[in-house]
Amino acid sequence: MQSREELHVRKIKDGTVIDHITPGFALDVLKILGINGKAGETVTAAVNVQSKRQQRKDIVKIQDRELKPSEVDKIALIAPNATINIIRNYDVTSKKVVQLPQIIRGTLRCDNPSCISNAREPVEAQFGVDQREPIRLKCYFCGHIMEREDVLKQF
Ligand code: CTP
Ligand code: ZN
Repeated sequence: MQSREELHVRKIKDGTVIDHITPGFALDVLKILGINGKAGETVTAAVNVQSKRQQRKDIVKIQDRELKPSEVDKIALIAPNATINIIRNYDVTSKKVVQLPQIIRGTLRCDNPSCISNAREPVEAQFGVDQREPIRLKCYFCGHIMEREDVLKQF
């Protein structure tokens, strides 16, 4: 059956579909993944389309590329309800909801310049998740709070 959003973006043969992205954030998901089109991938994004439950959502479809779990987990920072569908020969062969861990390690740096994690010694930045959506992170070392826009600036 053809649902409404499929009128916006057609099905793909092989690749990855990132579905149920927080409305308005498809382009930020691409930014987080480092996808800007320069590598020649075929990418389509649907922004603020109707989802089944009368809500809005964004969708990103990346053709001929299957995203790795390490790439996928970063998406949870801004779209914690996104689903990652791997498509092979038009079939959904795997479907996973992204995972936002309780503690974020390694992916981001603390915005506080005098935080020990920014000093020269090898202290890896670490954040606790204070709020899931919109994301609010608290630095484990200095207590500095980072919000969604601060997180996005690092990609
Ligand atoms: N999709 C696609 N190309 C395909 C197969 C699926 O672009 N060859 C897209 C669908 O349009 C949908 C997503 O991948 O956006 C997931 O497909 P599917 O599991 O069939 O849809 P739903 O059952 O609606 O998914 P969910 O339960 O996760 O909402
Ligand atoms: Zn800090």
